[in-house]
Amino acid sequence: MKLNAITGSTGLTLASLVGFVLAHGTYTLIEDIAGEGFYDSFNFEAIPDPTQGRVNYVNETVAKALNLTFATDETFILRADDFTVLNAKGAGRDSVRIRSNNQYTTHVTVFDMQHMPEGCGTWPAVWETNESDWPDGGEVDIVEGVNDVEPNQSTLHTSDNCTIPPFTTQLGTTLSTNCSAAFDFNEGCAVELAGNNSYGPAFNRIGGGWYAMERTNHYINVWFWARSDPFAPDDVTCGASTIDTGKWGIPAAHFPNTQCDLASHFGPNNIIINLTFCGAKAGNSTLYTAAGCPSDCETFVNDNPSAFENAYFQFSSIKVYA
Ligand SMILES: *[C@@H]1O[C@H](CO)[C@@H](O)[C@H](O)[C@H]1NC(C)=O
Ligand SMILES: *[C@@H]1O[C@H](CO)[C@@H](O)[C@H](O)[C@H]1NC(C)=O
Ligand SMILES: *[C@@H]1O[C@H](CO)[C@@H](O)[C@H](O)[C@H]1NC(C)=O
Ligand SMILES: *[C@@H]1O[C@H](CO)[C@@H](O)[C@H](O)[C@H]1NC(C)=O
Ligand SMILES: *[C@@H]1O[C@H](CO)[C@@H](O)[C@H](O)[C@H]1NC(C)=O
Ligand SMILES: *[C@@H]1O[C@H](CO)[C@@H](O)[C@H](O)[C@H]1NC(C)=O
Ligand SMILES: *[C@@H]1O[C@H](CO)[C@@H](O)[C@H](O)[C@H]1NC(C)=O
Ligand SMILES: *[C@@H]1O[C@H](CO)[C@@H](O)[C@H](O)[C@H]1NC(C)=O
Repeated sequence: MKLNAITGSTGLTLASLVGFVLAHGTYTLIEDIAGEGFYDSFNFEAIPDPTQGRVNYVNETVAKALNLTFATDETFILRADDFTVLNAKGAGRDSVRIRSNNQYTTHVTVFDMQHMPEGCGTWPAVWETNESDWPDGGEVDIVEGVNDVEPNQSTLHTSDNCTIPPFTTQLGTTLSTNCSAAFDFNEGCAVELAGNNSYGPAFNRIGGGWYAMERTNHYINVWFWARSDPFAPDDVTCGASTIDTGKWGIPAAHFPNTQCDLASHFGPNNIIINLTFCGAKAGNSTLYTAAGCPSDCETFVNDNPSAFENAYFQFSSIKVYA
Protein backbone atom coordinates (compact mmCIF):
# COMPACT_ATOMS: atom_id res chain seq x y z
CA MET A 1 0.00 0.00 0.00
CA LYS A 2 2.70 2.35 1.03
CA LEU A 3 4.69 1.44 -2.06
CA ASN A 4 1.65 2.09 -4.22
CA ALA A 5 1.07 5.37 -2.51
CA ILE A 6 4.65 6.36 -3.11
CA THR A 7 4.48 5.27 -6.73
CA GLY A 8 1.25 7.19 -7.08
CA SER A 9 2.55 10.30 -5.48
CA THR A 10 5.79 10.30 -7.44
CA GLY A 11 3.96 9.38 -10.62
CA LEU A 12 3.55 13.02 -11.61
CA THR A 13 7.12 13.86 -10.77
CA LEU A 14 8.32 10.86 -12.74
CA ALA A 15 6.21 11.80 -15.72
CA SER A 16 7.55 15.33 -15.76
CA LEU A 17 11.06 14.04 -15.25
CA VAL A 18 10.69 11.68 -18.22
CA GLY A 19 9.23 14.55 -20.20
CA PHE A 20 12.25 16.66 -19.34
CA VAL A 21 14.70 13.90 -20.29
CA LEU A 22 13.00 13.39 -23.65
CA ALA A 23 12.86 17.11 -24.33
CA HIS A 24 16.53 17.26 -23.52
CA GLY A 25 17.25 14.72 -26.27
CA THR A 26 15.16 16.50 -28.88
CA TYR A 27 16.89 18.67 -31.46
CA THR A 28 15.96 20.58 -34.61
CA LEU A 29 17.92 20.65 -37.86
CA ILE A 30 19.87 23.92 -38.15
CA GLU A 31 22.22 23.09 -41.02
CA ASP A 32 22.01 20.48 -43.78
CA ILE A 33 25.21 20.21 -45.78
CA ALA A 34 25.13 18.12 -48.96
CA GLY A 35 26.69 18.09 -52.44
CA GLU A 36 27.81 21.53 -53.63
CA GLY A 37 26.73 22.85 -50.22
CA PHE A 38 30.04 21.61 -48.83
CA TYR A 39 31.74 24.44 -50.74
CA ASP A 40 29.48 27.00 -49.04
CA SER A 41 29.76 25.56 -45.55
CA PHE A 42 33.48 24.72 -45.48
CA ASN A 43 36.66 26.67 -45.97
CA PHE A 44 39.74 24.96 -47.49
CA GLU A 45 42.76 25.18 -45.22
CA ALA A 46 45.91 25.19 -47.38
CA ILE A 47 48.16 25.15 -44.32
CA PRO A 48 51.29 23.21 -43.34
CA ASP A 49 50.16 20.03 -41.58
CA PRO A 50 50.43 20.58 -37.80
CA THR A 51 51.24 16.86 -37.43
CA GLN A 52 54.18 16.97 -39.91
CA GLY A 53 52.46 14.57 -42.26
CA ARG A 54 53.74 13.75 -45.77
CA VAL A 55 51.00 15.98 -47.14
CA ASN A 56 50.46 19.19 -49.08
CA TYR A 57 47.05 20.69 -48.30
CA VAL A 58 45.75 22.54 -51.37
CA ASN A 59 43.26 25.38 -51.66
CA GLU A 60 39.79 25.18 -53.20
CA THR A 61 40.91 26.27 -56.68
CA VAL A 62 43.59 23.61 -56.88
CA ALA A 63 41.37 20.97 -55.26
CA LYS A 64 38.69 21.52 -57.91
CA ALA A 65 41.22 21.70 -60.76
CA LEU A 66 42.81 18.38 -59.72
CA ASN A 67 39.40 16.88 -58.93
CA LEU A 68 40.48 16.27 -55.34
CA THR A 69 37.04 17.49 -54.33
CA PHE A 70 34.00 16.65 -56.39
CA ALA A 71 30.32 17.37 -55.74
CA THR A 72 27.03 16.28 -57.24
CA ASP A 73 23.54 16.86 -55.83
CA GLU A 74 23.87 13.70 -53.76
CA THR A 75 27.48 13.41 -52.84
CA PHE A 76 30.69 15.15 -51.85
CA ILE A 77 34.07 13.49 -52.38
CA LEU A 78 37.32 14.63 -50.81
CA ARG A 79 40.46 12.78 -51.86
CA ALA A 80 44.23 12.78 -52.10
CA ASP A 81 46.32 12.83 -55.29
CA ASP A 82 46.55 9.25 -56.60
CA PHE A 83 48.45 9.95 -59.80
CA THR A 84 51.75 11.69 -58.90
CA VAL A 85 55.03 10.02 -57.94
CA LEU A 86 56.56 12.44 -55.44
CA ASN A 87 60.08 13.77 -55.30
CA ALA A 88 61.37 12.65 -51.90
CA LYS A 89 62.85 16.12 -51.35
CA GLY A 90 59.77 18.00 -52.51
CA ALA A 91 56.31 18.68 -51.07
CA GLY A 92 54.09 15.90 -49.70
CA ARG A 93 51.09 14.32 -51.38
CA ASP A 94 48.34 16.76 -52.35
CA SER A 95 45.31 16.39 -50.11
CA VAL A 96 42.52 18.44 -48.60
CA ARG A 97 41.67 19.79 -45.19
CA ILE A 98 38.35 21.60 -44.72
CA ARG A 99 36.94 23.52 -41.77
CA SER A 100 33.33 24.56 -41.27
CA ASN A 101 32.60 28.28 -41.46
CA ASN A 102 30.18 27.97 -38.57
CA GLN A 103 31.02 27.11 -34.99
CA TYR A 104 28.83 25.08 -32.68
CA THR A 105 28.51 24.71 -28.91
CA THR A 106 25.96 22.20 -27.59
CA HIS A 107 24.61 20.38 -30.66
CA VAL A 108 24.36 17.11 -32.53
CA THR A 109 26.25 16.41 -35.77
CA VAL A 110 25.25 13.46 -37.97
CA PHE A 111 27.76 12.37 -40.62
CA ASP A 112 26.25 10.20 -43.36
CA MET A 113 29.38 8.70 -44.87
CA GLN A 114 29.63 6.20 -47.73
CA HIS A 115 33.39 5.83 -47.74
CA MET A 116 36.46 6.84 -45.77
CA PRO A 117 40.09 6.96 -46.90
CA GLU A 118 41.90 3.63 -46.78
CA GLY A 119 45.43 2.50 -47.48
CA CYS A 120 48.82 2.20 -45.82
CA GLY A 121 50.03 5.54 -44.50
CA THR A 122 46.59 7.19 -44.51
CA TRP A 123 45.47 9.11 -41.45
CA PRO A 124 41.96 10.46 -41.92
CA ALA A 125 40.06 12.37 -39.27
CA VAL A 126 36.61 13.85 -38.72
CA TRP A 127 36.69 16.05 -35.66
CA GLU A 128 35.59 19.29 -33.99
CA THR A 129 37.78 21.86 -32.32
CA ASN A 130 38.63 25.55 -31.99
CA GLU A 131 41.91 25.93 -33.88
CA SER A 132 42.56 29.46 -32.67
CA ASP A 133 42.31 28.44 -29.04
CA TRP A 134 43.56 24.89 -28.65
CA PRO A 135 43.29 23.01 -26.33
CA ASP A 136 41.27 25.50 -24.25
CA GLY A 137 38.32 25.34 -26.67
CA GLY A 138 38.31 21.52 -26.52
CA GLU A 139 38.56 18.86 -29.22
CA VAL A 140 36.31 15.91 -30.03
CA ASP A 141 37.75 13.38 -32.50
CA ILE A 142 34.75 11.53 -33.87
CA VAL A 143 36.43 9.28 -36.45
CA GLU A 144 40.13 8.68 -36.41
CA GLY A 145 42.40 5.82 -37.33
CA VAL A 146 45.62 5.06 -39.18
CA ASN A 147 46.88 2.53 -41.75
CA ASP A 148 43.39 0.95 -42.07
CA VAL A 149 43.50 -0.55 -38.58
CA GLU A 150 44.14 0.91 -35.22
CA PRO A 151 43.39 2.93 -33.35
CA ASN A 152 39.79 3.34 -34.49
CA GLN A 153 38.70 5.57 -31.71
CA SER A 154 36.83 8.60 -30.46
CA THR A 155 38.89 10.91 -28.28
CA LEU A 156 38.64 14.16 -26.32
CA HIS A 157 41.57 16.55 -25.98
CA THR A 158 41.20 19.37 -23.44
CA SER A 159 42.97 21.69 -21.05
CA ASP A 160 43.82 20.37 -17.57
CA ASN A 161 41.41 19.02 -14.95
CA CYS A 162 39.37 16.83 -17.27
CA THR A 163 39.32 13.04 -17.02
CA ILE A 164 36.80 10.31 -17.77
CA PRO A 165 35.89 7.23 -15.71
CA PRO A 166 37.46 3.95 -16.94
CA PHE A 167 34.09 2.19 -16.98
CA THR A 168 30.83 3.68 -18.15
CA THR A 169 27.74 2.81 -20.17
CA GLN A 170 29.04 2.55 -23.70
CA LEU A 171 29.57 -0.12 -26.37
CA GLY A 172 33.27 0.67 -26.82
CA THR A 173 36.24 0.25 -24.50
CA THR A 174 37.98 3.10 -22.70
CA LEU A 175 41.68 3.13 -23.62
CA SER A 176 42.89 6.19 -21.71
CA THR A 177 41.26 8.48 -19.18
CA ASN A 178 43.21 11.76 -18.92
CA CYS A 179 41.83 14.20 -21.52
CA SER A 180 44.45 16.88 -20.81
CA ALA A 181 46.55 17.70 -23.88
CA ALA A 182 49.49 18.13 -21.49
CA PHE A 183 49.32 14.47 -20.49
CA ASP A 184 51.38 11.74 -22.20
CA PHE A 185 52.07 13.60 -25.46
CA ASN A 186 48.44 14.57 -25.95
CA GLU A 187 47.15 11.02 -25.97
CA GLY A 188 43.72 12.32 -24.95
CA CYS A 189 40.95 10.31 -23.32
CA ALA A 190 40.06 7.68 -25.89
CA VAL A 191 37.42 5.04 -26.43
CA GLU A 192 38.01 2.26 -28.95
CA LEU A 193 34.83 1.55 -30.83
CA ALA A 194 33.30 -1.93 -30.67
CA GLY A 195 32.48 -4.05 -33.68
CA ASN A 196 34.59 -4.47 -36.76
CA ASN A 197 33.12 -2.29 -39.46
CA SER A 198 33.23 1.27 -38.21
CA TYR A 199 36.57 2.00 -39.85
CA GLY A 200 38.65 1.52 -42.98
CA PRO A 201 38.11 -1.17 -45.65
CA ALA A 202 35.45 -3.00 -43.61
CA PHE A 203 33.45 0.24 -43.32
CA ASN A 204 33.81 0.86 -47.05
CA ARG A 205 32.76 -2.66 -48.05
CA ILE A 206 29.37 -2.20 -46.40
CA GLY A 207 28.74 1.25 -47.86
CA GLY A 208 29.72 3.02 -44.66
CA GLY A 209 27.09 4.28 -42.29
CA TRP A 210 26.33 7.06 -39.87
CA TYR A 211 28.47 8.62 -37.20
CA ALA A 212 26.76 10.98 -34.76
CA MET A 213 28.12 13.13 -31.98
CA GLU A 214 25.98 14.75 -29.29
CA ARG A 215 27.58 17.43 -27.18
CA THR A 216 25.79 18.66 -24.06
CA ASN A 217 27.19 20.15 -20.87
CA HIS A 218 26.44 16.82 -19.15
CA TYR A 219 28.08 14.41 -21.60
CA ILE A 220 29.54 13.94 -25.06
CA ASN A 221 28.30 10.85 -26.90
CA VAL A 222 29.40 9.25 -30.16
CA TRP A 223 27.28 6.68 -32.01
CA PHE A 224 28.04 4.60 -35.06
CA TRP A 225 25.54 2.61 -37.16
CA ALA A 226 26.57 0.58 -40.17
CA ARG A 227 24.56 1.17 -43.38
CA SER A 228 22.53 -2.02 -42.97
CA ASP A 229 22.20 -1.91 -39.17
CA PRO A 230 18.55 -2.75 -38.41
CA PHE A 231 18.87 -0.80 -35.15
CA ALA A 232 19.92 2.45 -36.80
CA PRO A 233 17.28 4.99 -35.66
CA ASP A 234 14.76 6.13 -38.28
CA ASP A 235 15.37 9.81 -37.59
CA VAL A 236 19.04 9.26 -38.50
CA THR A 237 18.55 7.06 -41.56
CA CYS A 238 15.81 9.33 -42.94
CA GLY A 239 17.67 12.53 -42.14
CA ALA A 240 14.68 13.82 -40.18
CA SER A 241 14.31 17.52 -39.39
CA THR A 242 13.88 16.73 -35.70
CA ILE A 243 15.78 14.01 -33.86
CA ASP A 244 15.54 12.44 -30.43
CA THR A 245 18.90 11.21 -29.14
CA GLY A 246 17.10 9.83 -26.08
CA LYS A 247 15.94 6.97 -28.32
CA TRP A 248 19.26 6.19 -29.95
CA GLY A 249 20.35 3.58 -27.44
CA ILE A 250 23.71 3.04 -25.75
CA PRO A 251 26.39 5.12 -27.48
CA ALA A 252 29.60 3.72 -28.92
CA ALA A 253 31.52 6.17 -26.74
CA HIS A 254 30.26 8.04 -23.70
CA PHE A 255 32.22 10.87 -22.06
CA PRO A 256 30.32 12.01 -18.93
CA ASN A 257 30.99 15.24 -17.03
CA THR A 258 31.51 13.45 -13.70
CA GLN A 259 35.26 14.28 -13.63
CA CYS A 260 35.26 17.03 -16.20
CA ASP A 261 33.31 20.26 -16.32
CA LEU A 262 32.46 20.03 -20.02
CA ALA A 263 30.92 23.50 -20.08
CA SER A 264 34.24 25.16 -19.21
CA HIS A 265 36.47 22.76 -21.22
CA PHE A 266 34.58 23.12 -24.50
CA GLY A 267 33.80 26.37 -26.33
CA PRO A 268 32.53 27.04 -29.85
CA ASN A 269 34.01 24.40 -32.20
CA ASN A 270 34.36 24.04 -35.97
CA ILE A 271 33.94 20.75 -37.82
CA ILE A 272 37.22 19.74 -39.48
CA ILE A 273 37.85 16.97 -41.99
CA ASN A 274 41.46 16.21 -42.87
CA LEU A 275 43.38 13.50 -44.61
CA THR A 276 47.10 13.34 -44.03
CA PHE A 277 49.82 10.72 -44.58
CA CYS A 278 52.41 9.35 -42.20
CA GLY A 279 53.06 12.07 -39.61
CA ALA A 280 53.19 11.40 -35.89
CA LYS A 281 50.63 8.61 -35.90
CA ALA A 282 50.36 6.84 -39.27
CA GLY A 283 54.12 7.13 -39.82
CA ASN A 284 55.06 5.74 -36.41
CA SER A 285 57.22 2.89 -37.67
CA THR A 286 56.03 0.33 -35.12
CA LEU A 287 52.36 0.94 -35.90
CA TYR A 288 53.05 1.17 -39.63
CA THR A 289 54.86 -2.18 -39.76
CA ALA A 290 52.40 -3.83 -37.38
CA ALA A 291 49.66 -2.90 -39.83
CA GLY A 292 51.40 -5.04 -42.46
CA CYS A 293 52.41 -2.02 -44.53
CA PRO A 294 55.44 -2.20 -46.87
CA SER A 295 58.83 -0.40 -46.68
CA ASP A 296 58.62 2.81 -44.65
CA CYS A 297 55.69 5.19 -44.65
CA GLU A 298 57.22 8.20 -46.43
CA THR A 299 58.85 6.10 -49.16
CA PHE A 300 55.63 4.22 -49.74
CA VAL A 301 53.59 7.43 -49.94
CA ASN A 302 56.11 9.07 -52.28
CA ASP A 303 56.44 6.18 -54.72
CA ASN A 304 52.99 4.58 -54.95
CA PRO A 305 50.26 7.01 -56.03
CA SER A 306 47.96 4.20 -57.17
CA ALA A 307 47.92 2.86 -53.61
CA PHE A 308 45.76 5.89 -52.79
CA GLU A 309 42.93 5.27 -55.25
CA ASN A 310 40.72 4.53 -52.26
CA ALA A 311 42.08 7.31 -50.09
CA TYR A 312 38.88 9.33 -50.22
CA PHE A 313 35.96 10.46 -48.10
CA GLN A 314 32.51 10.31 -49.61
CA PHE A 315 29.73 12.06 -47.73
CA SER A 316 26.03 11.98 -48.46
CA SER A 317 25.48 14.74 -45.92
CA ILE A 318 26.48 16.35 -42.69
CA LYS A 319 23.52 17.49 -40.63
CA VAL A 320 23.77 19.72 -37.59
CA TYR A 321 21.00 19.88 -34.98
CA ALA A 322 20.61 22.18 -31.99
C1 LIG B 1 45.81 28.34 -54.67
O1 LIG B 1 47.07 27.71 -54.62
C2 LIG B 1 47.82 27.88 -55.80
C3 LIG B 1 49.06 27.01 -55.70
O2 LIG B 1 49.76 27.25 -54.50
C4 LIG B 1 48.15 29.35 -55.96
O3 LIG B 1 48.89 29.56 -57.16
C5 LIG B 1 46.84 30.14 -56.05
O4 LIG B 1 47.13 31.52 -56.08
C6 LIG B 1 45.97 29.83 -54.84
N1 LIG B 1 44.66 30.43 -55.07
C7 LIG B 1 44.04 31.11 -54.13
C8 LIG B 1 42.69 31.65 -54.48
O5 LIG B 1 44.52 31.29 -53.02
C1 LIG C 1 36.23 13.55 -60.61
O1 LIG C 1 36.01 12.58 -59.60
C2 LIG C 1 34.72 12.00 -59.64
C3 LIG C 1 34.57 11.12 -58.43
O2 LIG C 1 35.59 10.18 -58.33
C4 LIG C 1 34.53 11.26 -60.95
O3 LIG C 1 33.23 10.72 -60.99
C5 LIG C 1 34.71 12.26 -62.09
O4 LIG C 1 34.60 11.57 -63.32
C6 LIG C 1 36.06 12.93 -61.99
N1 LIG C 1 36.14 13.98 -62.98
C7 LIG C 1 37.16 14.09 -63.80
C8 LIG C 1 37.12 15.23 -64.75
O5 LIG C 1 38.08 13.30 -63.79
C1 LIG D 1 44.30 16.98 -38.41
O1 LIG D 1 45.01 18.09 -37.89
C2 LIG D 1 45.09 18.19 -36.48
C3 LIG D 1 45.99 19.29 -36.08
O2 LIG D 1 45.52 20.51 -36.51
C4 LIG D 1 45.58 16.94 -35.81
O3 LIG D 1 45.42 17.02 -34.41
C5 LIG D 1 44.81 15.79 -36.35
O4 LIG D 1 45.27 14.64 -35.75
C6 LIG D 1 44.98 15.80 -37.84
N1 LIG D 1 44.47 14.63 -38.39
C7 LIG D 1 44.76 14.33 -39.60
C8 LIG D 1 44.14 13.10 -40.06
O5 LIG D 1 45.49 15.02 -40.28
C1 LIG E 1 46.22 14.55 -16.13
O1 LIG E 1 47.29 15.14 -16.81
C2 LIG E 1 47.68 16.40 -16.29
C3 LIG E 1 48.73 16.98 -17.22
O2 LIG E 1 49.82 16.13 -17.32
C4 LIG E 1 48.16 16.23 -14.87
O3 LIG E 1 48.49 17.47 -14.34
C5 LIG E 1 47.05 15.60 -14.05
O4 LIG E 1 47.52 15.32 -12.75
C6 LIG E 1 46.57 14.32 -14.68
N1 LIG E 1 45.40 13.84 -13.98
C7 LIG E 1 45.35 12.63 -13.43
C8 LIG E 1 44.08 12.29 -12.74
O5 LIG E 1 46.28 11.84 -13.51
C1 LIG F 1 32.52 -8.76 -38.32
O1 LIG F 1 31.75 -9.41 -37.35
C2 LIG F 1 30.68 -10.16 -37.88
C3 LIG F 1 29.82 -10.67 -36.72
O2 LIG F 1 30.59 -10.94 -35.61
C4 LIG F 1 31.24 -11.29 -38.74
O3 LIG F 1 30.19 -12.01 -39.30
C5 LIG F 1 32.09 -10.67 -39.84
O4 LIG F 1 32.69 -11.68 -40.60
C6 LIG F 1 33.15 -9.76 -39.28
N1 LIG F 1 33.81 -9.05 -40.37
C7 LIG F 1 35.11 -8.88 -40.44
C8 LIG F 1 35.58 -8.08 -41.59
O5 LIG F 1 35.88 -9.31 -39.61
C1 LIG G 1 39.37 -1.50 -33.99
O1 LIG G 1 40.69 -1.94 -33.97
C2 LIG G 1 40.85 -3.13 -33.21
C3 LIG G 1 42.31 -3.42 -33.18
O2 LIG G 1 42.84 -3.37 -34.46
C4 LIG G 1 40.03 -4.25 -33.85
O3 LIG G 1 40.15 -5.42 -33.08
C5 LIG G 1 38.57 -3.83 -33.89
O4 LIG G 1 37.81 -4.80 -34.55
C6 LIG G 1 38.46 -2.51 -34.61
N1 LIG G 1 37.12 -2.02 -34.52
C7 LIG G 1 36.49 -1.49 -35.54
C8 LIG G 1 35.15 -0.95 -35.21
O5 LIG G 1 36.93 -1.41 -36.67
C1 LIG H 1 38.54 20.78 -11.36
O1 LIG H 1 37.22 20.53 -11.84
C2 LIG H 1 36.27 20.36 -10.81
C3 LIG H 1 34.94 20.04 -11.46
O2 LIG H 1 35.05 18.89 -12.30
C4 LIG H 1 36.18 21.62 -9.96
O3 LIG H 1 35.31 21.38 -8.89
C5 LIG H 1 37.55 22.00 -9.45
O4 LIG H 1 37.48 23.22 -8.80
C6 LIG H 1 38.55 22.08 -10.59
N1 LIG H 1 39.89 22.31 -10.09
C7 LIG H 1 40.68 23.26 -10.58
C8 LIG H 1 42.02 23.34 -9.95
O5 LIG H 1 40.33 23.99 -11.49
C1 LIG I 1 37.14 29.86 -29.96
O1 LIG I 1 36.94 30.53 -31.18
C2 LIG I 1 36.32 31.79 -31.15
C3 LIG I 1 36.33 32.42 -32.51
O2 LIG I 1 37.27 31.88 -33.36
C4 LIG I 1 36.91 32.68 -30.08
O3 LIG I 1 36.26 33.90 -30.04
C5 LIG I 1 36.82 31.95 -28.76
O4 LIG I 1 37.24 32.75 -27.70
C6 LIG I 1 37.66 30.72 -28.85
N1 LIG I 1 38.03 30.08 -27.60
C7 LIG I 1 37.33 29.32 -26.75
C8 LIG I 1 38.05 28.81 -25.55
O5 LIG I 1 36.17 29.02 -26.89
